[in-house]
Amino acid sequence: MKFDTVIKGGTIVTAADTTVADVGIMKGRIAAIALDLEGAEVVNAKDRYVLPGGIDVHTHLDMPFMGATTADDFASGTTAAAVGGTTTIVDFAIQSKGEALQKGLDTWHGKAEGKAAIDYAFHMILTDVNEQRLKEMDKLVDGGVTSFKLFMAYPGIFMLDDASIFQAMLRTRENGGTICLHCENGGVIDVLIKRAVVEGHKEPKWHALTRPMSAEAEATRRAIALAEMAGVPMYVVHLSAGDAMEEIRRARERGLPMVAETCPQYLFLSYEDYERPGFEGAKYVMSPPLRPRGNEERLWNGLKTNALQVVSTDHCSFCMKVEEGKPGKELGKDDFSKIPNGAPGIETRMMLLWDGGVNGGRLSMNRFVDVVSMTPAKLFGLYPKKGSVAVGADADLIVWDPKKKVTISAKSHHMRVDYNPYEGRTVTGAPETVLLRGKPVAKGGKFAGKPGEGKFVKRGRRS
Ligand code: URP
Ligand code: ZN
Ligand code: ZN
Repeated sequence: MKFDTVIKGGTIVTAADTTVADVGIMKGRIAAIALDLEGAEVVNAKDRYVLPGGIDVHTHLDMPFMGATTADDFASGTTAAAVGGTTTIVDFAIQSKGEALQKGLDTWHGKAEGKAAIDYAFHMILTDVNEQRLKEMDKLVDGGVTSFKLFMAYPGIFMLDDASIFQAMLRTRENGGTICLHCENGGVIDVLIKRAVVEGHKEPKWHALTRPMSAEAEATRRAIALAEMAGVPMYVVHLSAGDAMEEIRRARERGLPMVAETCPQYLFLSYEDYERPGFEGAKYVMSPPLRPRGNEERLWNGLKTNALQVVSTDHCSFCMKVEEGKPGKELGKDDFSKIPNGAPGIETRMMLLWDGGVNGGRLSMNRFVDVVSMTPAKLFGLYPKKGSVAVGADADLIVWDPKKKVTISAKSHHMRVDYNPYEGRTVTGAPETVLLRGKPVAKGGKFAGKPGEGKFVKRGRRS
């Protein structure tokens, strides 16, 4: 039998196994894993690893926020993702207060269709909760949008009170959806911000100084309590603080199904980045903020010991300068509280995590695959279609060169943003070829796909 494509002679790494075999691809799916397969096309993977495509379950593309709109849309964001080895994203559609969830979802479908170069799915951000909205949640879950992000921060924009969060949690107990929570105590943070502004503090570092670790740990603890009372699992997004992670660890030790993701920025960057000269600290203004040095090793340890289960990006790119008429971080030049929150990272997640995790001796290759692909696929209803190298799965695959060196820079990255938070850092290990459903979307660090080839993926309920 001749396959459409065979990936030959590589070492296949999944979350569970490491095996030397060929991968045979037919009609976009993995049809065989065996020795000596023949293909019409052959991709040589000798001395390379064959990994499942990365799954980034936290991105914000074409998102209006804090007076700006993210620099990356679905075309540039997914192009950059493909080059970095990510073949599926789950982006956040937003419901505007008072409007139907479906309306927000339709808007996000419009942003992605014809532009996305890799497969995509959506979570839905809820900005109000009432009887009507709860019914709408059921409909979304039936249509494959099976997770909802709720905010305990950003009063007046996204923040919901505990009763609303609890009601939404109870509803997911019935409909099989998943609640994702942004855990920071928005009320306390608001008081700290107002006080800092009145005292005349303007610089970017005040963003971090007004969002303490305990505001994240407290909200995480409260979120766990609410989910426990509702009797549902809960997913904490972009966990940054070691103290918040310990809340998750303790909940899991009590047998509760609580999980959390962290992001590369919290593993590689620190509060010191806010103290860079001039307005440069604005590049790192995101929420939760970067934490003091030493915190990152606690998170690495959490990934190793399963207190944390996923690494996603929270890719939310704003340019420093006004570009193509789009305002960016400069909005907060004279007031830290007006700097649009978010940073880019969709392209660099896998390379950074391999370098710091696998090369750094902190994660095994299998654990690396687990946190960037398999567990996110399982938690968000994409498995077994995505997340592993297995017969029947979509042929979303990376031929990974463990020796390739890449120096990260805004001059060479594919993201449409005028800075890179990791500028000048050299990493070892990068994708050589990336396939989406059997077709190349990246080769040798260059985009090889087509915007519009990415498909919307209906996700399953949590199992
Ligand atoms: O600073 C961040 N994280 N911006 C994106 C919005 C969010 O809370 O995820
Ligand atoms: Zn958030
Ligand atoms: Zn986010």
